[in-house]
Amino acid sequence: MARTIPAALDGSDKMSSRTKISVVGLGYVGLPLAVALARSFDVIGFDVNEARVSELRHGLDRTFEVDAPSLRASSMRFTMDVADTRDADIHIITVPTPVDQENKPDLEPLKAACVAVGGVLKKGAIVVVESTVYPGVTEDVCGPILAETSGLISGEEFYLGYSPERINPGDKVHTVDRIIKVVSGQTEEVTDILVDMYGAATSGGTFRARNIKTAEAAKVIENAQRDINIAFVNEATMIFQKLGISAYDVLETAGTKWNFLNFTPGLVGGHCIGIDPFYLAHRANEVGHFADLILTGRRINESMGKFIADRIHANLIGTSKILILGLTFKENVPDLRNTKVKDIITVLRDLGHQVDVHDPLADKGDAQQFLDIDLIESLSDLRGYDAIIGAVAHSVYRDLSPAAIEAMMVEEGLVADIKGIWRDTVFSPQIRRWQL
Ligand SMILES: NC(=O)c1ccc[n+]([C@@H]2O[C@H](COP(=O)([O-])OP(=O)(O)OC[C@H]3O[C@@H](n4cnc5c(N)ncnc54)[C@H](O)[C@@H]3O)[C@@H](O)[C@H]2O)c1
Repeated sequence: MARTIPAALDGSDKMSSRTKISVVGLGYVGLPLAVALARSFDVIGFDVNEARVSELRHGLDRTFEVDAPSLRASSMRFTMDVADTRDADIHIITVPTPVDQENKPDLEPLKAACVAVGGVLKKGAIVVVESTVYPGVTEDVCGPILAETSGLISGEEFYLGYSPERINPGDKVHTVDRIIKVVSGQTEEVTDILVDMYGAATSGGTFRARNIKTAEAAKVIENAQRDINIAFVNEATMIFQKLGISAYDVLETAGTKWNFLNFTPGLVGGHCIGIDPFYLAHRANEVGHFADLILTGRRINESMGKFIADRIHANLIGTSKILILGLTFKENVPDLRNTKVKDIITVLRDLGHQVDVHDPLADKGDAQQFLDIDLIESLSDLRGYDAIIGAVAHSVYRDLSPAAIEAMMVEEGLVADIKGIWRDTVFSPQIRRWQL
């Protein structure tokens, strides 16, 4: 059977502002991408979350990735009905790819998105996966679902592509419109189209991966590499704690060597670094390789919350009243997914301490619903804590004066600085200090 010409070309050999793009899943990744693409193309965003779509229509992005003026000024449209994406020449899927209770890839949201897109797929359309997956998912999982639900032939009547997303939530420098975009397509012609499309959205340029599996693999090792490097620093930190040396002091010193890698110890939570290595390890297992280093790194990083809580407990005098500053999985984002601060809270509470938690960026309702934690509204008027733990390096906590911190504490209280944010802060001599 003769191939269908990709619909994105619309009779010409270049894409145009009439090219219709649908972005499926409007979260941390999908929304900024859709807004960037809408500067050059006709973009519609589809999400199954009614509340999210309603907020976006009113110009509110609760992830803080797109500001209200940019959202309101964007020409993109929003829908909860996948049928509204029927005309799309290119569908881009940016739905979650979490792991299940056993740390196995949970591809259900991705499969559901493929079923939805397959139901409206037109001849000649391209489906690009942007969700993080292990090598093979786009062609071997998504392709067959799309073919079955659309009745079209993969590679002949519709086409696949993969383009990993590299954004870093809260990072306002490496944004989707500035970073190098890796693209891959099922055919050279499809890759050309995707190079055109993403090239219009980013000033960082594009990189053509050799093929789809290569692009999928590149994404998972980018994050697995970070995880392993952090695990190494976390293991070194555990050793230094026993030796009575600060890891931050050691890293600052070692960092003066030209080729020393700059990683800091701490909690590895969130939706990417702590999850994606499991995707690679799963695929490795399927082909008969035990991903030893990758899984050891995961185990070390997963144990860090308990390690930190135990160290802080060892520095407390009796049952204590503790204030934890920060709950999100990283600094300056509202994202609570897979936050490892929860591990610290659980261990300290199990040890009998009273633990209060504050985070001005996290959604109070989400903290209650998903983590069973009641967030304290405000730091003003808080008094009498035996310990204050700096758990997340939000700018607001970096900016706290020593007097403001001490005002919340008892006279010989403990300041526990997990992120090294108060290393240069001078407290009164009676305040006790602990840091990694
Ligand atoms: N958050 C990041 O910084 C980041 C960075 C790089 C890659 N990624 C990857 O990108 C993907 C998306 O991550 P995210 O952080 O944007 O997730 P997210 O949870 O913020 O957003 C996903 C959105 O998809 C919607 N959704 C779920 N199932 C759907 C379906 N069947 N149809 C339509 N919409 C659906 C959800 O309602 C949600 O709004 C994941 O694979 C993740 O690993 C994330």
